[in-house]
Amino acid sequence: MHKIGLFYASMTGATQEIAERIQDIHFEPGRVDLYAFEDAEPEDLAAYDALIIGTSTWGDGEYPDSLEAFLPQLDAISLEGKRIALFGLGDQFGYPLEFVDALGLLYQALKERGAILIGDWPSNGYAYQASKADLGDGRFCGLVLDQDNQPELTPHRLAAWVDSIREVLLQRQAA
Ligand SMILES: Cc1cc2nc3c(=O)[nH]c(=O)nc-3n(C[C@H](O)[C@H](O)[C@H](O)COP(=O)(O)O)c2cc1C
Repeated sequence: MHKIGLFYASMTGATQEIAERIQDIHFEPGRVDLYAFEDAEPEDLAAYDALIIGTSTWGDGEYPDSLEAFLPQLDAISLEGKRIALFGLGDQFGYPLEFVDALGLLYQALKERGAILIGDWPSNGYAYQASKADLGDGRFCGLVLDQDNQPELTPHRLAAWVDSIREVLLQRQAA
């Protein structure tokens, strides 16, 4: 089976819970392999040409610890041509000036390393003032979820987003 690697960085479990939901509810059994960044090696990530990566944002617009530690290790592998969909969790009312910033930082870091980023998402329906994940054209660079303020919107957002990325992630790598 053509597998998808799903990697996540989570401090208190919210992003982990979403990652597990994606694996359990939105793909068939065995399709998605799940990794927490603190338990993952760069070679684990290199093994997939289709990836989903999720991160929350901490500090003032910073990466969670496990992702901060993992990112420099990406220099050891090639991301050239990998299809990667990103999702991010944040708190739009608590951090309106740094909303899901880690998602935007991750997008830039992966793009610079040659990955093909898919899965952008409309930025309407959220109240924030600034976000590094905002592409500036009414889109975020990945799915944005706010479990602190809008958990009731998450099931629908998740289902619509996975529907939008499924086909591209499941395509076989062109020879
Ligand atoms: C100390 C602290 C700092 C945070 N900083 C930000 C931030 O800068 N931007 C943001 O959008 N959310 C921020 N958040 C909100 C978290 O990203 C949010 O609660 C998320 O759901 C946590 O997910 P996790 O448990 O997977 O880490 C912060 C939360 C805490 C407790």
